[in-house]
Amino acid sequence: MGEIGRIVQAADELSEPVNIPAEAYVSPEYARAERDRLWRKVWLQAGRIEDIPEVGNYITYDILDDSVVIVRTGPDKITALHNVCPHRGRKLIDVPAGTRNARGSRPNFICGYHGWTFDLEGRNTYFEHQEDWQGKLCEGLGDVGQVKVETWGGWLWVNLDPEAGPLKDYLEPAMTMLDPYQLQNMRARWRKWVIFDCNWKVAMEAFSETYHVATTHPEFMEFGQFRGWARNQGLHSNIGYDAPKGQEEDSGKLRLGAGEDPRLTTADMQNFTWANANTNTTATLVAVANRLKDELPEGTPAAEVSKYWIQTARAEDEARGVVWPTVDPQHTSQAGTAWQIFPNFQIGHAVNNMLCYQARPYKSDPDKCIFEAAVYELYPEGEAPATDWEYTEPADWPPVLQQDFANMAAVQQGMKNVGFRGAQPNPYMERSVASLHMNLAKFMGTGFPHRY
Ligand code: FES
Ligand SMILES: [Fe+2]
Repeated sequence: MGEIGRIVQAADELSEPVNIPAEAYVSPEYARAERDRLWRKVWLQAGRIEDIPEVGNYITYDILDDSVVIVRTGPDKITALHNVCPHRGRKLIDVPAGTRNARGSRPNFICGYHGWTFDLEGRNTYFEHQEDWQGKLCEGLGDVGQVKVETWGGWLWVNLDPEAGPLKDYLEPAMTMLDPYQLQNMRARWRKWVIFDCNWKVAMEAFSETYHVATTHPEFMEFGQFRGWARNQGLHSNIGYDAPKGQEEDSGKLRLGAGEDPRLTTADMQNFTWANANTNTTATLVAVANRLKDELPEGTPAAEVSKYWIQTARAEDEARGVVWPTVDPQHTSQAGTAWQIFPNFQIGHAVNNMLCYQARPYKSDPDKCIFEAAVYELYPEGEAPATDWEYTEPADWPPVLQQDFANMAAVQQGMKNVGFRGAQPNPYMERSVASLHMNLAKFMGTGFPHRY
């Protein structure tokens, strides 16, 4: 390796090329240190509010050694509890084998070991032979400990740090930029998870830039240009497409196909995306795209094709009770196509659908992660499908995602090679990667990107 330059600690330095040491991806010591320095300090997306609609409904969320139970305790109240019995430490709620998390409904929690019983807020309501403790289990010592929990965007967010500041302070500016998309109204179309052979950062980074599209997903090149920017946004980052002036809508996810006849290429791109990714679009958008050639004359300018496609799909959805929010094109161009929420969650937003990724470490092994993806859209009131997390082997994921998977495992191996000099992300298109490591290093105390 050449002489290592100055470490990068400020966002405005990320516009220059940097080198990211492999340590954060491959070091077992680093992976172990993440538990205390990272996972126990940050706000983590732990599930959807609609998964716990009724009082007594709960889900669990595991992050390395820690497990949290998130329970609805009132029509407008949600509580999070450390998933551990205060008696002798049995996990209070078991996660059934082969499932991503526990999910159920209870009037109270009863530990399976000696029967200590807790109400939904975690207060101890009963245990046998109480007098044997000589009155010492007062002041909450017999209760289950609470965890900070807040909601935003339809998600449940937890923070294991009792000193953590509010979620809003943590999420901004992502919160303000994404609020117009009303993500809380969307419901899952599908949710898949898998234990995968790469570090959680390798998995997240496979989706946080557009630089890979031309090579990894060459089929898409027929449909247009996928050059896009990546920007630092404090702890977070976002990405979007470069779009011609006056066509700012095209910097968002609902974009036209390129080429001679956008009526046809838009239909081609929509059909390909629907069949091979099952993300980033909806049945309504696909159906209207397929009618563009019949409903618009040949030679219709791209801007008009785009307008007609979006307005018609919007009207047809509205007629069945699905109302898309309206977002100003200027806002779309700033909000881009996806936000990387520090450290391990990505929201790929649009006005009528979203694609989200999350990756978590698996058993402190730097070479493994729990990877998950979910696609959401707007449904008429009461018509959202009942979905749950499906464990899905890599070969059974949509083909476009398999193309990304093929890189993920190979990157994990390659980064351990003695000849690897550290990652050198594109400062414009992959700034999200450098941004993640700059912020991670501030938590971890090591792994800072370096300037050349
Ligand atoms: S460990 Fe829970 S009741 Fe004993
Ligand atoms: Fe990809």
